[in-house]
Amino acid sequence: MTDAVQTQSSDAKFAKRVFSGIKPSGGLTLGNYLGAIKRFVDMQSPDFTSIYCVVDLHAITVWQDPAELKTATREVAAGYMAAGIDPSQSILFNQSQVSQHAELGWIFNCVARVGWMNRMTQFKDKAGANAEKVSLGLYAYPSLMAADILLYHATHVPVGDDQKQHVELTRDIASKFNHDFKTDFFPLAEPVIEGPAMRIMNLRDGTRKMSKSGESDMERINMTDDADKIAKKFKKAKTDPEPLPETLGGLKDRPEARNLVDIYAALSDQTSEAVIAEYAGAGWGKFKPALAELAVEKLAPISTEMARLMDDPAEIDRILAKGSDRAREIAAPILDQTYEIVGLLKA
Ligand code: AMP
Ligand code: TRP
Repeated sequence: MTDAVQTQSSDAKFAKRVFSGIKPSGGLTLGNYLGAIKRFVDMQSPDFTSIYCVVDLHAITVWQDPAELKTATREVAAGYMAAGIDPSQSILFNQSQVSQHAELGWIFNCVARVGWMNRMTQFKDKAGANAEKVSLGLYAYPSLMAADILLYHATHVPVGDDQKQHVELTRDIASKFNHDFKTDFFPLAEPVIEGPAMRIMNLRDGTRKMSKSGESDMERINMTDDADKIAKKFKKAKTDPEPLPETLGGLKDRPEARNLVDIYAALSDQTSEAVIAEYAGAGWGKFKPALAELAVEKLAPISTEMARLMDDPAEIDRILAKGSDRAREIAAPILDQTYEIVGLLKA
């Protein structure tokens, strides 16, 4: 993209380090779980540092009720932990407690080009016809996201499909910074987008992404839904009259069917091909109850654990405060060096 120089690869100089984040806006959905959180859990390892953030500064790019924002921040933290993020192994914190994010974000606002931002499809989708009225923060959002990642010299960024362009922009910002200041200070982080759940779709319309907002609660599974709700929503999910085909190719123009197969695959840690092989020729009368049962088995314990954690908000706050201290230990020296490179005087 553009004039950025992309010659450096993230391997040699930088140790593997994983960073990702989720906004505390609305509730967490099955899309967040399968496309992001479950994969964050799978990427925890004693061999490298993993850093998972509740990105509250990103949430306020659109209006958030102050009291609800705090609750939503704790709820995302509870969702991470209930799904298996271990705060003694990973660094788990909320973005606004580590002020270096906003500071590096400003520097990257001065590196990123307006033309790059104008190409961000998520901004175009979110702003729509209303582009003059949205916040300046919503427009600058991808450069804050670049700061989140590069503040830790992260090399791997697990995200859902919709974030690919933002991670690519992060690489462009790192490249331009390195080029402009004749340094190799920032790594080129790689998006990690793999598996059957990169784009979980709406249960009522298989051409639209499952998202936190949307008129009907029946179109999404919330991570806080109990067993009855989960089963009911899958049983009522939109499908078509055909049975499941012999191969994945047979699902090409059947978005709702494809989505349910992908969800089954992600929940059972299989490929979508393996699910089709098992259920070839089956009708919905067989597949939907099997999916509902699997989803309840996997998701209900997580929603129960989330509710338990949310009963003790002070404990969540302590965990986030501790995680923020650990995050700051990595972030502060990297920001100090960035200031030095840029020539900002520190006497
Ligand atoms: P957000 O809730 O927008 O902060 O998204 C947090 C993470 O969840 C990002 O990595 C998204 O790509 C991922 N995500 C959100 N919705 C979906 C979806 N429907 N399918 C797959 N991944 C998703
Ligand atoms: N922009 C991401 C989203 O909307 C959230 C996010 C913010 C993020 N900072 C990040 C994801 C850094 C990965 C890495 O889903």
